[in-house]
Amino acid sequence: MVLSECIADDPAETPLLKTFRLQLRFLVPLVAILAGTAYLAVPLMDGLTLRWFARDLDMRGTLVANALSDSLVDAENRGRKLQAIFDRAVQDERLVAIGWCSPTGQVLRRTARFPKELECEQARQVASERAAAMNIEGGPVHVSFHAIAGEAGPAGNLVLMHDLSFIERRSQDTRKYLIILIAALGAAIALVTVVVAQLSWRGWVSGAQALLRGEGLLRPMLPAAPELAPLAADLRERLRDLEDEYRRVQRPEAVWSAERLQSLLRTQLRGDQVLVVSNREPYMHERQEDGSLVVRRPASGLVTAVEPVMRACSGTWIAHGSGSGDRDAVDRHDRVPLPPGEQDYLLRRLWLTQEQEQGYYYGFANEGLWPLCHVAHVRPVFREQDWEHYRQVNQLFADAVVAEARSDDPVVLVQDYHFALLPAMVRRKLPRATILTFWHIPWPNPESFGICPWRSEILEGMLGSTILGFHTRYHCKNFIETVDRYLEARIEHEHSTITYGGEPTLVESYPISIEWPLPEEAREWPSPGQCRAELFERLHIPAGHRVAVGVDRLDYTKGILERLNAVERLLEKHPEWRDRFTFVQVAAPSRGALEEYRAFRERLERATERINGRFGRPDAPVVRLLAQHHDHEQVMRLYRAADVCMVTSLHDGMNLVCKEFVAARDDERGVLVLSRFAGAAREMPEALVVNPYHVEETADALHQALTMPAAEQRERMASLRSTVHEFNVYRWAGRMLADAARLRLRQRVSDRVQRHRIA
Ligand code: F6P
Repeated sequence: MVLSECIADDPAETPLLKTFRLQLRFLVPLVAILAGTAYLAVPLMDGLTLRWFARDLDMRGTLVANALSDSLVDAENRGRKLQAIFDRAVQDERLVAIGWCSPTGQVLRRTARFPKELECEQARQVASERAAAMNIEGGPVHVSFHAIAGEAGPAGNLVLMHDLSFIERRSQDTRKYLIILIAALGAAIALVTVVVAQLSWRGWVSGAQALLRGEGLLRPMLPAAPELAPLAADLRERLRDLEDEYRRVQRPEAVWSAERLQSLLRTQLRGDQVLVVSNREPYMHERQEDGSLVVRRPASGLVTAVEPVMRACSGTWIAHGSGSGDRDAVDRHDRVPLPPGEQDYLLRRLWLTQEQEQGYYYGFANEGLWPLCHVAHVRPVFREQDWEHYRQVNQLFADAVVAEARSDDPVVLVQDYHFALLPAMVRRKLPRATILTFWHIPWPNPESFGICPWRSEILEGMLGSTILGFHTRYHCKNFIETVDRYLEARIEHEHSTITYGGEPTLVESYPISIEWPLPEEAREWPSPGQCRAELFERLHIPAGHRVAVGVDRLDYTKGILERLNAVERLLEKHPEWRDRFTFVQVAAPSRGALEEYRAFRERLERATERINGRFGRPDAPVVRLLAQHHDHEQVMRLYRAADVCMVTSLHDGMNLVCKEFVAARDDERGVLVLSRFAGAAREMPEALVVNPYHVEETADALHQALTMPAAEQRERMASLRSTVHEFNVYRWAGRMLADAARLRLRQRVSDRVQRHRIA
């Protein structure tokens, strides 16, 4: 059995054994590495020691030879016996043997242990080797060869043999100590690792177990190591994804849907009342010139996302009645059942005076908070009277929530930056309400947000929420850091909660999405070919042109100008696209009462004229700027007709246009060019992701999109479609409501415990 099999998972193991098994995974390689090191180091040390001693013995030999040379020459001259000198010399315990060679290479004298068969030439060769070692009777010796000069020339050569066995003994000692040192070092590393791992592991496991039990959302988990806090947040995210994935694989029908959301409401929220608050209403009644009343869906990401959820949840939606015919469509309680003809939920309309709308909506929300949060290089404007209206209108809507509530603990879904103060206002009147606030736009860093004169009031208002949702973790992080900078609040980073005034708020990311079209709905769609033919006919686009589209509100954050610049650059760089390419931009008029928006529209019109003047023909302009409202059906046909869809927001919380485009392409064709500054870019890497501020990069991406082979388009689109299908708007609402249900349950249990204690 191999080692990995020995340490494979066994469900019957105790936690202690499991920890030990995990540590073994570390210790086994450690021991192997240390053993390998010792195996390589020992011969290296031996060689080194031998070379050091050989050098020493060479020097010693030279010293001995120098000392003997005079006596040798003298003895030769006077005919005295050399043998006696040599025999005396080898009484030294290190010097083992001496040989005396004639200049012609014959051995003339040798001491007792000098090998009889060893020739002078052989001795010279051994001495010239690196180790200069050989074995003689009695053990290994080091050989050195020294020329001795006489009065009349060379007198002979002295061969000295020094004992080497002591080196072997020292080498053994060194080896022993080296192995002991490596073993001790290994043991110390292993001990420290095991102890630290044991401690961290326990903390981590108990933290993770707490998370798995659903604890840790609002109250501290068991003492998990704080450095693992970001991991815990990630783990919680991943667990949710895994849960979704599991459901999808186990029961494909369990991908989030209206039915699944309804069942969550019935089971986990026990049919509790759901109230939605937003500025924009889901349907507007408009009085036509001929006196008739028409209903239309406004161009709003918020409405696109929340309306299907509301159809599934029923309940009441409170919004500003801003349509010219709205008052004529409501009952005496200002309510109207929606959607028209189906009546799944109620819309309660609130009326604002012109001053209120000007100050709260156009002023503080759209000239203050909108540019403040988008950081799109338009200066936010803060006026005292706008702030006053903002406060008033928030109070008006908060009162309406309280009036519409049928119990003291409804579930209130507050939408967007128009109502930053409302959560705390509702909390004061309905302390037991579950308030979920979703911020549909980005949240900037603390420095950028800090310029708002009422920053503390805004943060305090938002912290009246039970759950505060943003599209991305990045926005959550920015919000938490902002609170940390400007309020005295307790922040538990590991659970992403902020406790302010004794009340906790969970700050969590819930990426918003769209309703995935039902198969029966998609079956009714006209084919992409038909949509294309209609578009070409309606806009008189020359046959054979490739078409890119953009669909946005007319807003400076959407990067429409940058997109037009990229189209212009494409035609400069690639003349082959001239007369072969048309760009259709739908720009739904928005916030036209604001100067910034009017000026932006003029800039767009000028850019369109410039490009058409340079590259278009009077009967075939390159850019078609359609600055009017388009309904859902028209937009869907445009998506199906296009070769490319361009989403180049300079900053966007999520952006739903890209998701709608993908949902419309059941033919798995078409290419998405997507700004990296849209929250959606994190979920949709198969798009051609660009920096819209970089005109070259965007123009190149457009060229790449127009020349992308069909197979690659299909591959990318299929993957995008599976993401958007799964991560749909019901999942967005479902995850938020499931968190709300968990917190409500906890609240009820703690209320019960409290009552028992008092009793
Ligand atoms: O992006 C924030 C948002 O509220 C979106 O939901 C929507 O697309 C847009 O602003 C609507 O703006 P308005 O309601 O001002 O037209």
